[in-house]
Amino acid sequence: MTPDPAQLQILMYPDPALRAQTAPVDPSDPLVQAIVPRMMELMFQSNGAGLAAPQVGLPWRVFVTRDPENEEKALAWLNPELELLDSPIECDHEGCLSLPGITVEVRRPMHIRLAAQSLDGAPVECTDESLFRVIQHEYDHLEGVLIIDKMSTMDRIRNRKMIKQLKTAARNSKTE
Ligand code: NI
Repeated sequence: MTPDPAQLQILMYPDPALRAQTAPVDPSDPLVQAIVPRMMELMFQSNGAGLAAPQVGLPWRVFVTRDPENEEKALAWLNPELELLDSPIECDHEGCLSLPGITVEVRRPMHIRLAAQSLDGAPVECTDESLFRVIQHEYDHLEGVLIIDKMSTMDRIRNRKMIKQLKTAARNSKTE
């Protein structure tokens, strides 16, 4: 089945696609060339900071983020390799387009190394520190990891109602 880029939508937790195993992509694949711009479009439409392929139902090692140098542009990160560097841990709130209404305090190292490919296949590295948190969040998506997996007891209590609502919504849409 070939996905139609125009039909792609952001999937909500607990969609199983968010937990799927992901595989590398060939940047020259016409489908990848068509889907990545659509992911960028969906990210902007939803006012997100980033979006990963599993969130649109594709088990690909691909995510997009905003371009810190141009607010109207986005960056594509294909086949990324993440290295967490020895650095202070920073705790901050994170949300996720697949978990609307939910925020979690996530601890992450402040410094990382990310090597990937751009949409034209060229090797790229992320050196912009303002992206380091979102990149770790999106990379987690490629591993099937969500912010709700990182909740403290307090986060769990605070988000309990919203998580339940998402699960109920998923059940209802299935029985419709
Ligand atoms: Ni997310």
